[in-house]
Amino acid sequence: MGKEQRGFSSSLGAIMAAAGGAIGLGNIWRYPYMLGENGGGAFLLANMFFVLAFGIPLIMSEFVIGRRSQSNVVGAYRKLGKKKGWTIIGYFSLISALLIYAFYSVVSGWTLNYIVLACTNKLSGLSPEQVTETFTTFTTGTFWPVFYQLLFLIMTALVITFGVQKGIEKVSKVLMPMLFLLLLFMCIRSLTLPAAKQGLHFIFHPDFSKLKMSGVLDALGQSFFSLSIGVGAMVTYGSYTSKEDSIFKTSTWIAVCDLLVAVAAGVVIFPAVFSFGMDPASGPELVYVVLPNVFNSMPAGTLFAVIFFVLLSIAALTSTISLQEILVAYTVEERQWNRRKSSIISMLVIFAVGIFCTLSFGPLSNFKIFGFTIFDLFDHVTASYLLPIGTLAMTIFLGWFYPKAEVKDEITNGGALKGNLFELYYFILRYAAPIALVIIIVSGIVE
Ligand code: PHE
Repeated sequence: MGKEQRGFSSSLGAIMAAAGGAIGLGNIWRYPYMLGENGGGAFLLANMFFVLAFGIPLIMSEFVIGRRSQSNVVGAYRKLGKKKGWTIIGYFSLISALLIYAFYSVVSGWTLNYIVLACTNKLSGLSPEQVTETFTTFTTGTFWPVFYQLLFLIMTALVITFGVQKGIEKVSKVLMPMLFLLLLFMCIRSLTLPAAKQGLHFIFHPDFSKLKMSGVLDALGQSFFSLSIGVGAMVTYGSYTSKEDSIFKTSTWIAVCDLLVAVAAGVVIFPAVFSFGMDPASGPELVYVVLPNVFNSMPAGTLFAVIFFVLLSIAALTSTISLQEILVAYTVEERQWNRRKSSIISMLVIFAVGIFCTLSFGPLSNFKIFGFTIFDLFDHVTASYLLPIGTLAMTIFLGWFYPKAEVKDEITNGGALKGNLFELYYFILRYAAPIALVIIIVSGIVE
């Protein structure tokens, strides 16, 4: 990595980068429609519980693995695992990261198209049918969705090429505060709409009769996806954090920011959806079809549309950076490629796979595997199987194989920090989290 010292230069930079990796389309695109489909408040409560009970301990665990080993995800298991077999968890993470990035880059590319549409006033003045048509024509096309996907991949690779401090950390320190400000601005706009109360009631009033077992599992799966657990993103970023930082504090910051942004996205979307008489449970199209309609009925809607889609693309970019860095850290450290070569080659590999995800909305929409289009298959397989299996393997390694004293040493910074909650953490790592993970995996298979 040249003369640059390995890792982030400051604690704040580390938190911004890691929170940026966690906060993404999962928070602003996925979370609101899942909330809508699962009855609102009760889903929020379930998700919140999972983030606090499992999310924080699991982020901490990945941080322990990364920081202890000072390595990329494969090197980490090689160093800590002693016996060679454990590196399989690392390779598994690389594959998961590649598959997630392949489909994630499709929706990331859409955000760029929507910024352009909003800026050129092509979304305003359309009837609801025309808004739907705009979305369908674009996503089922061939050239433009691929073009925007590639553009997004290039932007991400460019940031990565500049390095951990000068690329990832610097960009995160600018983009994350910007994201928070834009989100705050959008929240204020939404809260001053006529049906603000109804929207807030929908998000915060827990009606448990509307939450089914599948909704609880969705809430659990969503918390893992949203916190980027199980692909080695937090192992990689954890390896870049300072030995002086408190792993508990950093992990808590990441989880709390991630949760707040998801809730804020709900606060932006639902008051607006109710104010303009739209359907809250409209699935993945919520953000790309329902919201443009909402903006159309709003004074100065174009401005809000531009801001919203810029916000969405910032959220996506900091996440794609963390996804690609998993791969690049591996090729740089284990294969001794330089950063530029790593960024370009990994980008091309992701593009070669990702293009099929994009085309699965259009020319390849009839090509189905187990009844799924390629995009849906990647989404489903990663969220329901690869992430939970990767996380389960990680907890077994750290909770059952790696010495407890070493885990404690890393979390307490060699005893410098008080570890009052350590036993609780260790219990979750060893028992509670693996059991929850087995339930997710099995229920996914049964379904
Ligand atoms: N957490 C990101 C989101 O919410 C997605 C992601 C998953 C990013 C895994 C990196 C690794 O959008």
